[in-house]
Amino acid sequence: MKNNINTLAIVGSQWGDEGKGKITDFASQESDMVVRFQGGNNAGHTIVVDNIKYKLTLIPSGVLTPGVDNVLANGMVINPKAFLNELKILKNQGIVNKNLFISDRAHIIFDLHQELDGAREIAKGKNSIGTTKKGIGPAYGDKYSRIGVRVGEFIKPDVFKTKLNELLREKNILFKAYGLAEINADELFNEYEAIAQKIAPFVTDTSLLINNAIEANKKVLFEGAQGVLLCIEHGTYPMVTSSSPTAAAIPLYCGIKPAYVNKVLGIVKAYTTRVGGGPFPTEIDDALAHQIRECGNEYGTVTKRPRRIGWLDVPALKHAKRVSGITDIAVTLLDVLTGISEIKICVDYKINNKVINNYPGDNATISKIEPVYINMAGWSEDITNVTSFAQLPKNAQNYLLKIKELTDLELSIFSVGPGRKQTVIMKKLF
Ligand code: GDP
Ligand code: IMO
Ligand code: MG
Repeated sequence: MKNNINTLAIVGSQWGDEGKGKITDFASQESDMVVRFQGGNNAGHTIVVDNIKYKLTLIPSGVLTPGVDNVLANGMVINPKAFLNELKILKNQGIVNKNLFISDRAHIIFDLHQELDGAREIAKGKNSIGTTKKGIGPAYGDKYSRIGVRVGEFIKPDVFKTKLNELLREKNILFKAYGLAEINADELFNEYEAIAQKIAPFVTDTSLLINNAIEANKKVLFEGAQGVLLCIEHGTYPMVTSSSPTAAAIPLYCGIKPAYVNKVLGIVKAYTTRVGGGPFPTEIDDALAHQIRECGNEYGTVTKRPRRIGWLDVPALKHAKRVSGITDIAVTLLDVLTGISEIKICVDYKINNKVINNYPGDNATISKIEPVYINMAGWSEDITNVTSFAQLPKNAQNYLLKIKELTDLELSIFSVGPGRKQTVIMKKLF
């Protein structure tokens, strides 16, 4: 093995939907392998290539680039029906990628997990998380309760049958408590057995695969889903997802050594959005929020819900930088701010008029945050065809430079539209 490793982690640094899919697709063009390491089909990554829109939820965003290996690593939760459906949709769009690999250690999401997700949300009433109802929480819950079914077990009929019986022993108690119809193990087995055999050809030990690629000096991208503030450890718990979208989680969720993740590109939307419930210190809810939502098409890819809108939040980015190990940033959706005469950036948090120096660990405290803003002059020129930093209007340049200064991070990329070509690279990726 040569000494240099060629890996790059691409992670969300806010509440998701920062444009990770777009940037991963862009970076895939010079990569050999793209690895999704956590989450499941709660993610929605929209990519536009030659005016054609692709919506990916489970399959890594390297799939649109011929010749790239795409890996679904052990940290993921995989709904096999959703996976096969996504393959079908891609095939209808002319995309067939034979180099797709699923970890034998990833966990399966069954329909029953989705049902439970929905039932729990209803039971929580006004305190509901606003999940995507894809069964993410219940599936990760079963993983950590040690009753989940791994992909490698799912594809072996005898093992699958035994594991399913164990799973249903507990799940049926819960189903009864929620007033849901009991599940018959034989019926479930029969329903999923044919699906399992369709999944089988993709299944392998992906830890080995990824390590071999890295050690052969291949260019390997790690594609995150969600964002740091939705992290089960470092996010706005319990209004979070059930995995860790941080770069710190990559070694564990992929089966590689920590030293193999040393360059971490945090994707930063030029403002902030959030879908679902939970505190949001810089949220705005007025005509301007409406303008940004319409201009940025800020509606959920998976659930179509309107995304909540807010100003850029630097204290949150500093938190993301620290807990996720972000070394570089890509600022996306810059074009959406065009036409806003005065743009605010939150530079500090105050509580009871005192500046605090951390991201609070509980939502009651986060709800008390009074953001401290600075105002930046906006620009009105169309920037969607800009191909270099120098071509940006001075005020847009100043906005990017201010983000770089406040976060003390390298600005590697900025993006001025959804298309592949609307990506300006400032620093080489690998
Ligand atoms: P992800 O979940 O982080 O991959 O982000 P999403 O795909 O859910 O949301 C980002 C949305 O913004 C998608 O619809 C992208 O096509 C779009 N997008 C990405 N970058 C830009 C950009 O620079 N400008 C504009 N206008 N849209 C962008
Ligand atoms: P991408 O990869 C934005 C949010 C949900 C909810 C919370 C928990 O597209 O950035 P879950 O279904 O995971 O149990 O929901 O997390 N959420 C996302 N928000 N983008 C995502 O993914 C998200 N995935 C989950 O809205 O608040
Ligand atoms: Mg998304």
